[in-house]
Amino acid sequence: MKILVINGSPKGKRSNTYKLTSSFINGISETNEIEYEEIIVKDKNIGTCIGCFGCWNKTPGICVIKDDMKEILDKILWADIIIWSFGLYYFNVPGRMKMLIDRQLPLALPFMVSESESGSHPMRFDMSGKRHVIISTCGFYTARGNYGSVNAMFDHFLGKNRYETIYCGQGELFRVEALHNRTDEYLGYVKQAGKEFVTGGISSEIREHLDELLFPRETFEAMADASWGVSKETGEKEDETYIFTKQMASMYNKASYKGKDIVLEMDYTDEEKNYQIILKKDGYEARKDNFISPTTKVITPFTVWKDIAEGKISGSQAMMKKLYRVEGDFDVMLNWGKYFGSGRTNQKENKNFPDKKTNLMLTLIPWITFWVSASIDSYIGGFISICICALTGLIFFRFRKTIYDAISVTAVVGFSIMALLFPEMTNIILSCSYLAFGLMWILSCLTKVPLTAWYSMNSYNGESALENPLFVHTNRILTLAWGILYVITSIWTFFLMGTLISPYLAVINNVMPILMGIFTKWFQNWYPSHYASK
Ligand SMILES: Cc1cc2nc3c(=O)[nH]c(=O)nc-3n(C[C@H](O)[C@H](O)[C@H](O)COP(=O)(O)O)c2cc1C
Repeated sequence: MKILVINGSPKGKRSNTYKLTSSFINGISETNEIEYEEIIVKDKNIGTCIGCFGCWNKTPGICVIKDDMKEILDKILWADIIIWSFGLYYFNVPGRMKMLIDRQLPLALPFMVSESESGSHPMRFDMSGKRHVIISTCGFYTARGNYGSVNAMFDHFLGKNRYETIYCGQGELFRVEALHNRTDEYLGYVKQAGKEFVTGGISSEIREHLDELLFPRETFEAMADASWGVSKETGEKEDETYIFTKQMASMYNKASYKGKDIVLEMDYTDEEKNYQIILKKDGYEARKDNFISPTTKVITPFTVWKDIAEGKISGSQAMMKKLYRVEGDFDVMLNWGKYFGSGRTNQKENKNFPDKKTNLMLTLIPWITFWVSASIDSYIGGFISICICALTGLIFFRFRKTIYDAISVTAVVGFSIMALLFPEMTNIILSCSYLAFGLMWILSCLTKVPLTAWYSMNSYNGESALENPLFVHTNRILTLAWGILYVITSIWTFFLMGTLISPYLAVINNVMPILMGIFTKWFQNWYPSHYASK
């Protein structure tokens, strides 16, 4: 499959659009053997058409101007797929690309045909098997409404509906390293579009993703305004640290507002500069002075924070390495992605990874049922526990299951059968079940993701929290504490069964986890902020 890219951006390979074009071609090459040619229009010697019609009458099919156009026309004739790649300039193709388009006249014959309403010329060569793709980015927040003249021109010279398009607004964001999460996601869809294009056509699902805004209009426009590095009020150049802070603030996602303003103070220790960002219900405010009491203070070298923003190091890794510290409320740090995320409101559910949540109840209910019911009556308890184990899967069908949910159900069914078979040994069976429960928690600490992390990640941006070493570290401590509590519980249950305290054991053993639950809630917030302030 022969592919020709006509890169019309005056920036050549540094073009924003070229990133999309490269991804599209990568997609094609995943399923097809390709031969590839590229014309960087800015580097070519292409003169303007002088309108002599010599290519139609004096030397049919050959232009009188001797420049690189001959080689370009040969490549157009050679290619199976032609990709027109350019940034939108004044609602059309950049000037030099228009010159190239004008110079295609030798490919047409002079005669008039009435194929279209406006009239047209037949082609000198058979071009019917060629497929065309137009890939373009533009600077405004959306591509919608900006490509009228581009479409009108290509409709005339390629034919209506005879070409595929990928038009993307907010094109300048493709060069912003700090936003690569979102732009890479988009480029992934462009790649998939390339794959689908050669094997039929771009699916409606991918088309929807391609048509989605990179960022909501308001966020994009705030980022764009902040990026010029000049004050909106005075037009004067601003300090790099302030521009950077404002850009960060401009990514604030209002939907994350939790009913209280957040005053985030950035202290750049190496530059001796500090700024405040106030996150309000209806937007943000960046301040250089008139500071108010901060809710959260980030004390960091500017270079470190820039590296984090550019994705060179993750924020949590930098914190674990003690490259910066945080004072005050830690919530904003734990939920950074929510506060300064893309804020995309119409994000579709990813069908490959449905957004199901885990639920700790799935693990706890079988155990608690067994402990309470079997301590009252081993027959009835055993029977009820088996029924509950069978039912939990049905009741919690909407939740994502973890390995610990499966282990719990299996273990409780096992202990219940033992209680049914050996009722005289209920005390030992109960103690063993506490021990098994405790060991499950302790052993999970030896894995990459400790048990509690699988459940508490729901409150911290889902699975991405598992990449956060501080989050995992905090959960490892908590999981170990829970495990130890249950190992101890198994020991005291074993020794206290048959004593005077025995009737109260079920109550004591179930109050302990409630207290532990309260401690967990507190520790989850306290520990990371304590760690970060050091
Ligand atoms: C001279 C000029 C004219 C532009 N005209 C438009 C325009 O009409 N509409 C628009 O949305 N963006 C416009 N832009 C922004 C570019 O389309 C945008 O920066 C695009 O991402 C550039 O793509 P490229 O890097 O592939 O050349 C213009 C930029 C320049 C420099």
